[in-house]
Amino acid sequence: MNGIFCVFEGIDGSGKSTQSRMLYEFTLNHGINSLLLHEPTEGFFGKKIREILKSNTLPPVLQQIDLFIKDRHDDVELNIKPALTRGDVIIMDRYFYSNAAYQGGVEFDAIDIIKMNIDEGFPLPHRVYFIDILPQEAMDRIQLRRNGNIELFEKIDFLTKVRDNYLKLIDERFLVIDGNRDINEIHREIKDDFLKLLKIHGRIM
Ligand code: ADP
Ligand code: TYD
Repeated sequence: MNGIFCVFEGIDGSGKSTQSRMLYEFTLNHGINSLLLHEPTEGFFGKKIREILKSNTLPPVLQQIDLFIKDRHDDVELNIKPALTRGDVIIMDRYFYSNAAYQGGVEFDAIDIIKMNIDEGFPLPHRVYFIDILPQEAMDRIQLRRNGNIELFEKIDFLTKVRDNYLKLIDERFLVIDGNRDINEIHREIKDDFLKLLKIHGRIM
C-alpha cells in the first residue's frame, strides 16, 4: 500500500470542503492520480446518518459511533484500501478523527474512540490538516451558508467541545492550520506541506 493519505479535519464551517477541493484541483492540474472522498459517505450508512442529522433526535452515543464506523468500514474497503494499493493520493474531507471529536465526551473518551477505529483495521493517514477556527466564527459562517438552517451538531457549546477534543488528538501527523485567514493563503500553506510529503515519499525530486 504505497499511496499517500491526507485527511482534512476541523469543526463544521472551518473550511475543510473548500480546502480539500482546492488541494484536489491542485493534484489534478499536476497530473497526480488522486481521489477526493468525504465522510459521512453517500453510501447506505452515510445516508442513514444524514437523515438523523436532519431530524431532531440523536441516538445514544454508542449507536452514533457504531453508525459512523459502519459507514467508514464501507469507505475503507470500497475506496481507501484500493486507492492506497494503486499508489494514488487520497484527499479526505473528515475521517475517524471526526468520530473522536464529535462523539467523544463523558461516556467515551476521544482517544478511546481513535483506538476503536484503529482496532477496526482502518489505515492511519500520513497527514491530518486540522483547520482551526473558533466556534463563534464557525457559527457565523454556517448561518450565512445555510440561511439559518442549522443541523443538530451545529451549536456553539457542542462545537466548543468538539474543538477541545480535536486539540487533545494532535500528534505528529497533524498540521494545525489557522483557519481565520484568507482562503488562498491557507491553500498555499497546505500545498507547500503536501509537496514536502510527496518528496518524503519519493514522488517528486
Ligand atoms: P466545512 O467543510 O469545514 O464545513 P466549508 O469549506 O464548507 O467548511 O466553509 C464554510 C463556509 O465558510 C463556506 O461558505 C465557505 O465559503 C466559507 N469559508 C471557507 N474558508 C473560509 C475562510 N478562510 N475565510 C472565510 N470564509 C471561509
Ligand atoms: P459534514 O457533511 O462533513 O458536515 P460539514 O460539511 O458541515 O462539516 O458532516 C456531517 C456531520 O457529521 C458533521 O457535523 C460532523 C459529523 N460527524 C460525526 O459526528 N462523526 C463522524 O465520525 C463523522 C465522519 C462526521
